[in-house]
Amino acid sequence: SLPVPSVQEIVRNDSECVPERYILDYEDRPIDSTFYAPNVFDEIPIIDYSLLANGEEDELNKLDFACKEWGFFQIINHGVTVEVLHNMKTAVEAFFDLPLEEKKKHAMAENDIQGYGQAYVVSEHQKLNWCDLIFLITQPPECRNFKYWPSTLQSFKEAVEEYSEEIQRVSEEVLGCISLLMGMDKHDLKKLHGVMKQSMRMNYYPRCSRPDLVLGVSPHSDKGSISFVLQDDEITALQIKYKERWLPVKPIPNALVVNVGDVIEAWSNGVYKSIEHRAVTNTKKARISVGTFVLPNEQVLIGPVESMMIDRPRLYRDIKFLDYVRYSLNKEMDGKAHTHFLK
Ligand code: SIN
Ligand code: FE2
Repeated sequence: SLPVPSVQEIVRNDSECVPERYILDYEDRPIDSTFYAPNVFDEIPIIDYSLLANGEEDELNKLDFACKEWGFFQIINHGVTVEVLHNMKTAVEAFFDLPLEEKKKHAMAENDIQGYGQAYVVSEHQKLNWCDLIFLITQPPECRNFKYWPSTLQSFKEAVEEYSEEIQRVSEEVLGCISLLMGMDKHDLKKLHGVMKQSMRMNYYPRCSRPDLVLGVSPHSDKGSISFVLQDDEITALQIKYKERWLPVKPIPNALVVNVGDVIEAWSNGVYKSIEHRAVTNTKKARISVGTFVLPNEQVLIGPVESMMIDRPRLYRDIKFLDYVRYSLNKEMDGKAHTHFLK
């Protein structure tokens, strides 16, 4: 990623300022006419983790529906304590509260994906997101590179490690259930990852005087197998593409937002959907969020599994996950455009 200014600093210097590089072309702006008017039938599914873990058939069917029809759901009763969630959010807040010079000690290098900065900046001309972030590889533990972790912050490491561990547990259970739904044994999908990797993108979206002109995160689909979003309990900002329009994901306090990534879409031969999503900004309050991504090992093939091709034609080719990552890292985020490479 190319180095770009900190949005947090831009706003700190002048709260009204929205530089040209962030102002989207008219058709990309988050304007009202592009929003889906939600009604009671259009609620993102809510999945009860404790019922899944108990092996309850009804909940498994709800998960199947959620992954097929929505590609997004919120998970409750996941067993991650309020304290762990709170500590994770506090760690992110504490990081972004550090002076710029401190944060820059963990800056993303041009040829790296980890660190403090912005992701997917590939040209001087592209529009930038109204967001600062720090990206870290968190699992397996031996893949952590602590030069990017802010060691001066007392509890950052502990908070991230605990949260990461918990997401690992929840993701194994959810993947286990999806594995069953895909006609495999419970552990097959985990095994298919080779090594189950995990990364975290911690986001800081400053207030913006013109939320109608910018986006916190441009439309994209997630590259990995499944993703988890820990978001602010009050601010609605995440939106998913639904019936050709944008539908806000209303936060449920202490729930985790879960979404199917491109790898599960390909493994499931397109039965489960990796849905386009984006984040908007607001004038009132900065927002933080944490995206956690489960990824297969780089050498793993991400074409459809046998059981999903029994009575369906193959829709995706067999390529290595690494090839997909390499392909998409050199491109701007662009909705679902990258997934053509999988076909
Ligand atoms: C994303 O999933 O890329 C956006 C996460 C968020 O800030 O809600
Ligand atoms: Fe995402």
